Amino acid sequence: MTSKPSRLLPAALAGVIALLPAWAAAQWRHLDSLPQVQRDGNTVTFAAAADSGRTEHVAISVLSPEVVRVRFSPVAFGRDHSDAVVDRQLGVQDFRFESTAFGSLIATDALRVEVQAAPFRLTIKDADGNVIDADDAGRGIAHDGSAVRVWKQLRDTDNVYGFGEKNGAFNKRGWALGGYHYVMWNSDTYGYDNSTDPIYASVPFYLVLREGRAHGVFLDNTHRSSFDVGRERRGLLSFGADGGELDYTVIAGPHPRDVVRRYAQLTGRAPLPPRWALGYHQSRWSYYPEARVRRLADTFRQEQVPADTLWLDIDYQDEFKPFTWSAERFPAPAKLVADLREQGFRTVVILDPHPTKEPGYRIFDEGVAGDHFVKNPDGTLFEGPVWPINAPNKPGNSVFPDFTRPATRAWWGRQHKMFTDVGIAGIWNDMNEPAVWVPPANTMPDDVRFDHEGQPTNHAEVHNLYGMQMTRSTFEGLTALKPEERPFVLTRATFAGGQRYAWVWTGDNRAEWSSLQQSIPMLLNFGLSGFPFIGGDVGGFSGYPSGELFTRWLQAALFSPFFRGHTEQATPDQEPWSFGQPWTRINKATIELRYRLLPTLYTAVEESSRTGLPVMRPLMLEYPEDPQTHGRGDQFLVGTDLLVAPVLVESATSRDVYFPKGEWIDFHTGTRLEGGKTHKVDAPVERLPVFVRAGSMVAMQPVVQHTGEMAAQPIVFRAFPDSQGRATGVLYDDDGESMAYRDGAFLRQRATLRTVRGKACVALETVEGRAEASSRERRFEGPEGAPLPAC
Ligand code: GLC
Repeated sequence: MTSKPSRLLPAALAGVIALLPAWAAAQWRHLDSLPQVQRDGNTVTFAAAADSGRTEHVAISVLSPEVVRVRFSPVAFGRDHSDAVVDRQLGVQDFRFESTAFGSLIATDALRVEVQAAPFRLTIKDADGNVIDADDAGRGIAHDGSAVRVWKQLRDTDNVYGFGEKNGAFNKRGWALGGYHYVMWNSDTYGYDNSTDPIYASVPFYLVLREGRAHGVFLDNTHRSSFDVGRERRGLLSFGADGGELDYTVIAGPHPRDVVRRYAQLTGRAPLPPRWALGYHQSRWSYYPEARVRRLADTFRQEQVPADTLWLDIDYQDEFKPFTWSAERFPAPAKLVADLREQGFRTVVILDPHPTKEPGYRIFDEGVAGDHFVKNPDGTLFEGPVWPINAPNKPGNSVFPDFTRPATRAWWGRQHKMFTDVGIAGIWNDMNEPAVWVPPANTMPDDVRFDHEGQPTNHAEVHNLYGMQMTRSTFEGLTALKPEERPFVLTRATFAGGQRYAWVWTGDNRAEWSSLQQSIPMLLNFGLSGFPFIGGDVGGFSGYPSGELFTRWLQAALFSPFFRGHTEQATPDQEPWSFGQPWTRINKATIELRYRLLPTLYTAVEESSRTGLPVMRPLMLEYPEDPQTHGRGDQFLVGTDLLVAPVLVESATSRDVYFPKGEWIDFHTGTRLEGGKTHKVDAPVERLPVFVRAGSMVAMQPVVQHTGEMAAQPIVFRAFPDSQGRATGVLYDDDGESMAYRDGAFLRQRATLRTVRGKACVALETVEGRAEASSRERRFEGPEGAPLPAC
């Protein structure tokens, strides 16, 4: 299958694009003129008195020569607070400012912001005069009651990406697809399909590639928001929110990598994870009792299928109550976790945000005493049904911590001591949209009260923050409890900036080929939106996959940073060996390949944590000048040197792969393929098509059963030389779990293939760090595995 925008897609995307959104019917008041102009430091404010004593304001701030913030409020500006943004000091420099009766100009070294005075419209150009971002001449910024919105010009040649975790085609160039309309409102969407919107996470950020030049736009607003890409009208892209300010930041490139990097600087980067998190994870809803978990661990080791982490879903708890263990199913958690650790496994437990409303249950009592639970407008505790309503003995409603309140985050975070004390290695936060089983909203009512960092507000404003602030509590709690260890948190719901606290998985997908197909563009766009450490349930959560589907999914996920098999309650076993032959053999080899490539994956992960660039990269991120890459959502790069083209179609044993410029080498066969072309490649069921950019060195290692065995194994650089016999590659290494890397205990090393006295050899040089931080033996080999000496 190719990912060229298909004209058939709109029908399949009914949920995404069908209904005319509510805002289309709003009574928009478009900004006219804002004649009071004032510069103060790096901000220029435009204001005008409007009806009913209001004053309309637009403030334009220069955050760096390439980054400009636009803030509009139909009333006086409120507190300048952001939960997403961590850094607005992006390299502020002086800029030129001119203002006349016709308009104003703000000019940096890289950008010209042209402000038309009446009606008030913005056009942002690069230094060469190319239009990056421009208001629609007829509309521009508008408001209606508490809603705010802006309409931008959309060109037929624009390619649009990002929006975080969204369904639909990779390239959201709306007009060609009949238009896209995306809503940002974190939603529990069991068994979602390719048309479901919104789903769990909200990242109000998009990236436009316009004639080879990229820019990004981030709407920093946590209310329900929406983005319309050419659906309302072919030439328009609009976005806005139900409340709050229209606060958006335009990030210029020109390279898409520049945009992603600057967005990551603005909203933060995902911290370096522990290396074990890159191993294979096995989960299901739920492995219990203890004996079953032990059997699972034994089977992995007996079958010699590598794995690092076993997961406990909700049934490990007593009556689904957070911070409890079922005494009957898990009578001795510390012993179990220690025994698993002996076998090389980490244990992760789920932890949902819904303590049972039950006097006598410590978390409930403490939470009430500490004023930690959210309340209705009348001051009573808000309560609602989630898992504890299904508790066998004492079913009941739940209450919900206010994670927007610092004291509550700290209190909840401290509770994790009971897990770290027994050796639990990571925490899985789920149901944190928050899910509340009361239709039709399936979340809290809009008017439930929240602290919001000391500025009380309602649920409508902070809904999209709930999951992120829960993971912040978990992350900070784990950090405080184990300051020497890198925390590991997985979440379902999150918001822009949430990458600072947790990895994200894409929730309750389906055991269907269409869900596998959808997973790749979703992960690619999510990665472009600041979240590099992501993955989906391998095999599909709802329903049950065929052996072939599971095997292809495992292959397709081999390069997802998060690599976990998971399935819903009451499905048949879904482990790598559950489908008989040939699937067991192939699945084992797939996971082995993941482990063989871990040094390369860890290097890519470290780069992501430093730069914000994704691990799984769409081709357009590295080759934006090549139009052939713009719609490719079914193949991707890992870092810059690996090209992966998973098989996503039932029964297929070959597929078309587009190779960007240069030369590429089949990782499995060594066959050379010329770039700038599409090739049909063999992809028998045992093989994930992987290609290496000619001229690179890939860091590998022998198969290990878990990451704890790596220290004893060499790192093997395999050379994939270009036509001139050159090859080079970088490796990052450290101890894989402590914080010592922050104090320089790491090594970044470059390996280069050389010819010395007519013989090939490999030279290693330190790029950064300390040699003693990575003491594993180094070996070198040619493309077919023949050993090469060090120079
Ligand atoms: C939700 C999660 C799923 C989990 C289940 C039970 O549906 O998305 O992964 O297994 O709850 O906790």
